[in-house]
Amino acid sequence: MSDRAFLKFFSGLIATLVALTVVMFIVANVVDGKAKKPEASLDAKAVAERIKPVGEIGVASSSPVLDLIIPVAAAKKKVVADDGNVGKKVYNGTCSTCHTAGIAGAPKLGDWAAWKDRIAQGNDLLYTHALKGFAGKVGFMPAKGGNSALADDDVKAAVDFLVHEAQEKATK
Ligand code: HEC
Repeated sequence: MSDRAFLKFFSGLIATLVALTVVMFIVANVVDGKAKKPEASLDAKAVAERIKPVGEIGVASSSPVLDLIIPVAAAKKKVVADDGNVGKKVYNGTCSTCHTAGIAGAPKLGDWAAWKDRIAQGNDLLYTHALKGFAGKVGFMPAKGGNSALADDDVKAAVDFLVHEAQEKATK
């Protein structure tokens, strides 16, 4: 190969490589431009959005399932926390509607005269009547006081509370 021929070949090679470089440069810019995210904003709201905890719940949750579960879980927690006084808590929440004022003939809380014959029947029958409902001489006691969400043990605890309050008055 003569010097001339070599020079021609070599400059041709260089020109091709330069052209290839330019093409690759353009292609790379186009691809990168598409993938590029918008500039990260330092706006306070945008920052809070980016750093918020992943498992966050409750704050205006958009899930209807969570909206149902959260209050139930909260209510359960309270019952456990009030453990020493479940009966009173259930009484206040459900039974007091009738048993405080004696609505529909309900024996009043702490009214020994109204309770003594009932207590004489024994706790088991009182539990059954409170759990299953009971139509007596005076009126109608709905099953679980109408609150079917109550656990059997909660209703029994409320009966214990009613019995205890009546007996308190009897001894005074
Ligand atoms: C809708 C009103 C109402 C509610 C709420 C209610 N009771 Fe009663 N309860 C009555 C009435 C009325 C009687 C009396 C029925 C009769 O003797 O004729 C009664 C009677 C009872 C008796 C006596 C049963 C017997 O054998 O003499 C117990 C125990 C009792 N209720 C427990 C409860 C408990 C515990 C709750 C709450 C979980 C509750 N009640 C909620 C109306 C109610």
